[in-house]
Amino acid sequence: MGLEMRKTCSIGLCQVLAALLLWWSAVLILCGGVNGQGSWETVVKNAGISTMHAAVTHFGNVVLLDRTNIGDSQLPLPPGVCRNNQQDRANKYDCTAHSALYSPGSNKIRPLFVQTDTWCSSGQFDGSGKLVQTGGDAEGVRKIRTYWPCADDGDCNWEETTTNLQVGRWYASNQQLPDGTQIVVGGRNAFTVEYVPANGRGQFDLQLLKDTNDAQNDNLYPFVHLLPDNNLFIFANRDSILYNWQDNYVVRKYPTIPGEPRNYPSAGSSVMLPLTATGGFKACEILVCGGAAPGSFSNPGRLAPASDTCGRMDPFAKDANWTMETMPQRRTMGDMILTPLGDVIIINGATKGSQGWGYASDPALTPVLYYPGAKSGERFQTLTGTDIPRMYHSTANLLPDGRILVAGSNTHQFYTFTGQFPTELRIEAFSPPYLGGTRPGLVVPGEMGYGEEFSGSVNYNGNLVWVDLSMASAPFVTHSYAMVIFALIVSYISVSWFGLVLFFFFRSFVLMVFVFRCRVRGC
Ligand SMILES: *[C@@H]1O[C@H](CO)[C@@H](O)[C@H](O)[C@H]1NC(C)=O
Repeated sequence: MGLEMRKTCSIGLCQVLAALLLWWSAVLILCGGVNGQGSWETVVKNAGISTMHAAVTHFGNVVLLDRTNIGDSQLPLPPGVCRNNQQDRANKYDCTAHSALYSPGSNKIRPLFVQTDTWCSSGQFDGSGKLVQTGGDAEGVRKIRTYWPCADDGDCNWEETTTNLQVGRWYASNQQLPDGTQIVVGGRNAFTVEYVPANGRGQFDLQLLKDTNDAQNDNLYPFVHLLPDNNLFIFANRDSILYNWQDNYVVRKYPTIPGEPRNYPSAGSSVMLPLTATGGFKACEILVCGGAAPGSFSNPGRLAPASDTCGRMDPFAKDANWTMETMPQRRTMGDMILTPLGDVIIINGATKGSQGWGYASDPALTPVLYYPGAKSGERFQTLTGTDIPRMYHSTANLLPDGRILVAGSNTHQFYTFTGQFPTELRIEAFSPPYLGGTRPGLVVPGEMGYGEEFSGSVNYNGNLVWVDLSMASAPFVTHSYAMVIFALIVSYISVSWFGLVLFFFFRSFVLMVFVFRCRVRGC
């Protein structure tokens, strides 16, 4: 089951493809869920840090990251290790951690060492599975940090590279590209894009970011999705474009979405709905949900009701425009997760206010499930709620076992454990209704390249009707936005009954994925 390079590629391109290595983990989702509405579990009682950013690595463990200039955390660095940073505004000599590795198997937390300030930074895996983390505040604003993932018993850690960003970026968004590098879009007063590694590419102006920069800077953490035609969909505030990242021009502009501003600090969220074999991996739709009432960040005392709408659009349609839908609940700071079944879960956030310290109230405690394929008006289902508010500076990530890891929430400048909405150090896992059943054996290549065909097999001694195979990317999650979240779903694969062996062959536009999911429908 080895990999074969595309016959058409040149030697140089082959090397790039070979560098786009992927790792796989497997989970089978059977019908007959744990609980019709899902269930919650607190998996870590005190992580020691509050999580502002999080990413699941190809080892299945999770990198948690806060900011560094927040004063002592409750997670000590290893004995004798301290951070000496005279530019840190809170703690120039700091022996506590501001990043950590969480292992879902053991629920253990290992402190990680970060040198410069990661406050409102951004990140993304590169084609080799390395986490690349860019920007932040103050002395961190032009930094590029890397983290080579390792197994739970490893000792990998953050490294600061000697190359800097071309311009300081605070509240930017990163998107992995088919060449294995990433584009970094925007940031506060940074109306340009650049690439990491730059490979000779400079900065390019992006007019959209200027046009959408209102009085409260609603153009931050823009939503960026790589579409199957290799262009980028870029959304800021209420406007969006199709952008050619190779030649740096705007291919087309889309109509303004009705309703509230949707990006930071108004904090809607966005996903590209899963690309399916049925759609030839070419059809796609963008979903944007939630946001804050206009001006909420500038007038935080108002605690105005958040948006209750989603907009959905086919970016390839000739007359592309948003179709609006109403959510069961208002939500700002919601996180969106693509589920292994191709649906969307919206989780975390608040029903009033916006992002900002103390700028929100009335937490949204119940997740909702959105079924893209259901009839309009029947697409939302409300799930089991938690009693832990997850508002500003919280995260949600899909784990390889299908659960959703929920961490963080700090609506204060520093760690504050008194009063309303104390800094949250607990980590929860939400088990959505699709979980349950026995896992099959799943064999797939350990790594693969962009655009590669691959084959894999599933071994299962059960009574199957058909199998859906889905793969999801592992995003870098921060500020209610999962940078690079996409899923591919291959439906209907031939089935035999005993010692089932299935082979999958397909070619898709991009396979920068490492979570491999398989669904069996037999009941
Ligand atoms: C897009 O749809 C909205 C209603 O959702 C409508 O007001 C607007 O005129 C439409 N724009 C275009 C360009 O069709």
